Amino acid sequence: MSDAVVVEELVKTFGKTKALDGVSFSLPEGTVLGLLGPNGAGKTTTVRVLATLLAPDSGRASVLGLDAVKQAEQVRRVIGLAGQYAAVDEKLTGMENLRLVGRLYHLPKAEVLSRADALLERFELTQAANRVVKTYSGGMRRRLDLAASLVNRPKVLFLDEPTTGLDPRSRLALWEVIEDLVRDGTTLLLTTQYLEEADRLADRIAVVDGGRVIAEGTSDELKDKVGGSVLVARPSSPDDADTVASVLAALKTGEVKRLATGELAVPATGIALVAKAARALTTAGLEVSELGLRRPTLDDVFLTLTGHLAESSDVEDETP
Ligand SMILES: Nc1ncnc2c1ncn2[C@@H]1O[C@H](COP(=O)(O)OP(=O)(O)OP(=O)(O)O)[C@@H](O)[C@H]1O
Ligand SMILES: [Mg+2]
Repeated sequence: MSDAVVVEELVKTFGKTKALDGVSFSLPEGTVLGLLGPNGAGKTTTVRVLATLLAPDSGRASVLGLDAVKQAEQVRRVIGLAGQYAAVDEKLTGMENLRLVGRLYHLPKAEVLSRADALLERFELTQAANRVVKTYSGGMRRRLDLAASLVNRPKVLFLDEPTTGLDPRSRLALWEVIEDLVRDGTTLLLTTQYLEEADRLADRIAVVDGGRVIAEGTSDELKDKVGGSVLVARPSSPDDADTVASVLAALKTGEVKRLATGELAVPATGIALVAKAARALTTAGLEVSELGLRRPTLDDVFLTLTGHLAESSDVEDETP
């Protein structure tokens, strides 16, 4: 399997901000890589370099063996991009937007028409095809933007935070469409702040922080970095958190972690620990609304790797 995307030691500085500080990764053809990182990590900057929209200060980026700087024109022909902010024209209808993209690629008119019909169908926009985009919901715009990125049948697709701002149902629907594309053989680079999304869609995950890849692997490999399974308890009342924590500490399996979700977690030794914890909590007269074993989530992984949570936006925007 050859690499569809190769990124080597990319550096990009904006004024005093080092947006990229030596990003490297590669993506075998037909696979999905998730670039996972918090606000300001450098995800969009990386995608813009690959999509030929931005030249790096140093380093190399190539798509299907074509250099993103020196062969930008050819790269553009083989890729599709749905940016972080939907790039569709509000004043045009859904159908007109797709036709416009077809014209930009100089595709034959008949082909553009049948392609646009098929894409509108696939993204459940047929009913809305002749309405101006201004009247579309956020989810519909996202779907149209994704449809627009597919007009030229790209072999390599870049999706920058495809589901940010969508409700859970729309997110699920979009995940299914993306999974279909991947089944059809599209190579996909996806950026996301949602651990769940990377977990579900990506074969491999590169965790980005401060313009560098700080960890890479399958979701399971990353979870293994954090250790085996954990016992998680959710106190029925937040007031009980301290007493529940001391009961869990008395199980002596390791340090008690307080998760942002309100849950308490300790390293787990096996299923018997659940029964032991249940007895100890009952004896202490404590109620919990949840108690069980689970594999560490990617949230736990991110916290372990970076010392901060993935979804927090504690990385300051450095523009004045
Ligand atoms: N055109 C620009 N001018 C100045 N600074 C920029 C520019 N583009 C990006 N940056 C800065 O570079 C850093 C990385 O930005 P980037 O957009 O790549 O992050 P991101 O990982 O996509 O974040 P988010 O999750 O918020 O989209 C940030 O500190 C950002 O403020
Ligand atoms: Mg971004």
